[in-house]
Amino acid sequence: MIDIKKIRKDFPMYQNVPTMSNHSLVYFDNAATTFKPQQVIDAADEYYKFFCANSHRGDYEIAHTVDVKYEAARARVAKFINAETNEIAFTAGASMSLNSIAYGLAPILKENDEILLSEAEHASNVLPWFSVAEQRHAKITYINLTSEGRLTLENLKKAITPRTKIISLAQVTNVLGYVVDVKSFAKVAHEHGCLFVVDGAQSVPHMKVDVKDLDCDFLAFSGHKMLGPTGIGVMYGKYELLKKMKPLMSGGGMSSRFDTCGDVAYRIPPIKFEAGTQNLSGALGLAAACDYLDNIGMDNIRNHENELRKLMITGLKKLPNVKIYNEKAESGIVTFNIDKVFAQDAASYLSYKGIAVRSGNHCAQILLSFLGADATVRASLYLYNTKEDVQQFVEACASCGEGGNFLDAFFN
Ligand SMILES: Cc1ncc(COP(=O)(O)O)c(C=O)c1O
Repeated sequence: MIDIKKIRKDFPMYQNVPTMSNHSLVYFDNAATTFKPQQVIDAADEYYKFFCANSHRGDYEIAHTVDVKYEAARARVAKFINAETNEIAFTAGASMSLNSIAYGLAPILKENDEILLSEAEHASNVLPWFSVAEQRHAKITYINLTSEGRLTLENLKKAITPRTKIISLAQVTNVLGYVVDVKSFAKVAHEHGCLFVVDGAQSVPHMKVDVKDLDCDFLAFSGHKMLGPTGIGVMYGKYELLKKMKPLMSGGGMSSRFDTCGDVAYRIPPIKFEAGTQNLSGALGLAAACDYLDNIGMDNIRNHENELRKLMITGLKKLPNVKIYNEKAESGIVTFNIDKVFAQDAASYLSYKGIAVRSGNHCAQILLSFLGADATVRASLYLYNTKEDVQQFVEACASCGEGGNFLDAFFN
C-alpha cells in the first residue's frame, strides 16, 4: 500500500501549485515528465552548495569529493536496473542514449542489412535509426502490430530475416502503453544473431527492470520521467559491447591519449561515452530518485498505477462521448478521444478543469495512421496520483463536448 498523503508532502509542486484554473491540480502528464520530490531536489542542490568542482579532472579535495559522489551515483543507478557499475554511461536522456547506441552500432551494418522497429515507437527510437540506415545503406523494417496495437512474439518471428542485425523496441510504448515481453523478445533476437535494444523511457520509471534477467543488450532511459532531474539519463550496454562500440561524442575526459596523426586511445567504458563536463548534479539527483522509488517499492508503484488505471477505464467506459484506444494496456497510460472534440481542445478544456494531460501525436507519428486519428489525448499516471484525481478527471471528460457544455468551463 502506498501512503499518498505522505508522499505528496515530499513534492513541492503539490504545495506550491495546489490548483490550476481554480480547481485542484490533477497532474496526468507523467509520461512526458514527472514532479520531483524534495529529496531529489536536495541531492541535486548539494552539488552546487558543497562540492562544486569538475569530475575526473581535479587533484584537490573537493574535486575528489565530487568524483566519489558521482561514481557512487553511477553505482546506485546501475543497481536500480541490476547492471554492473561500468555498464552504464550517463547521458542527457533517453534520446541521447538511443542516438549513442544507434550511431555506436552503425559500423556493424552492411548494405541491405535490416534494423527492425515497430510502428508504435517514439521518434527518439526511430529517427536515429533512420539516419544510421541511410548512412550504412541499410533498411528499416517493422514488426506488424496486432489489431489492438500490440507487439507479439509471433509477429516478431515473422519480421526477422537473415538480414536483421538490430531490433530496437520500447518496453512500454508511449501512446498505447502496452508492455512488451522483453525477456522473450531478447531470447528470440539472440537466437537469430540480432542485437536487442530496449527503449526503457516509459518502463524503467514504473516497473522493476532487471537487465540481467531480461538479457537485453542495451537499455535507454531518462531521469526526468522517474522523479529525477531533467538533462540526465542512462545508456546501459553489456560491457563487452560497450568496449567495442565507438562513442557518439568525443571531447575532454573520454580519451587517455591522442596525437597529431589523429590516433586516439579512448578510456574504458563507461567513461569513453562521457565526453565533456557531465551533468554532475543531475546524476546525484537521479541516484536520489532511485532511492526514493526503491523505498516505496517498484511493485507497489505498479500496483497503485494499475488500480487507478482500472478506476479510470471503468469511469471512462461509462461515458458515451469517450473512445479509448488502449483499454487493456498494462501500464498507467490511457489514450482516448472525446467525440467531436479535437484532442488539443479537449486538453485545453481539461486544463480549465485543473487537469494536465498531453494531446497530439506524442512523438509517435507513424502510429497515427494505425490509430486512424490525427491526434489523441493521453492521461498518464504515477505514484502520487489519487482516486480523487481520477474522479475529477472522469467528471471533466463527462462534461466535455456533447456530454456537456463545452464552453462552460472556459467562463467558470
Ligand atoms: C518511449 C519513449 N522513448 C524515448 C523518449 C525520449 O525521452 P527524452 O525526451 O527524455 O529523451 C520518450 C519521451 O517521451 C518516450 O516516451
